[in-house]
Amino acid sequence: MSGGGITTTDSNKTALAVMMVLLLTMALGVFSNALYSPEKAAKPGYNLPEGSAKTATAAAPKEPPLPALMAKAEVKKGETDAHVCQACHNFEKGAGPKVGPPLYGVVGRPKGSIAGFQYSDGMKAKGGDWTYADLNTFLTKPSTYVSGTKMTYPGEPDPQKRADIIDYLHTLSDSPLPLPKEAAAAPAPAAPAKK
Ligand code: HEC
Repeated sequence: MSGGGITTTDSNKTALAVMMVLLLTMALGVFSNALYSPEKAAKPGYNLPEGSAKTATAAAPKEPPLPALMAKAEVKKGETDAHVCQACHNFEKGAGPKVGPPLYGVVGRPKGSIAGFQYSDGMKAKGGDWTYADLNTFLTKPSTYVSGTKMTYPGEPDPQKRADIIDYLHTLSDSPLPLPKEAAAAPAPAAPAKK
């Protein structure tokens, strides 16, 4: 057995090596099948997230626009809901301040403009007139609209009740301003308070 012939041990080793390679190849085949099949199973689910995302976007606007709410508003209901304001505000023409400034003629009045009333710095800095839109934002949550406001009233979360109150406030005037119209809804928010 000279001259580089393959010994018995060598051929055994070779046979073993060949078998190992075959086994490994088979094992890899089984393995790759196992790896690929879950991916196929996952595919039918891909469309679901897109569908539910669209539904979420459509549900985003929760409050109807103010002009639509004002069109449905009732002065009588607003007068009742405004009783809570009377703890701090006078509504009658010519009446003076209480805890808060008098509210006769407040719609369209410059913000923080009652002479002699000690407004908060936030209110003094606000500027502009009380538009329907601004009153609506203020009465939603006063402390958010005017930082450091002295008005310790938490706000009215119900948009229709707020519209009723604003509808009532607008009657407290010698010449009430026209109510906001649907068509005028777009330009209104585009005119923020000037300073
Ligand atoms: C606990 C007392 C209190 C209650 C209740 C209250 N307010 Fe006021 N309100 C104030 C005070 C104080 C101010 C002055 C705020 C400031 O200077 O920051 C004010 C300011 C205002 C202003 C601004 C007036 C101006 O001259 O610029 C409006 C409008 C207003 N309140 C409306 C209302 C309405 C409507 C209600 C009821 C839904 C109400 N408030 C409830 C105390 C109150």
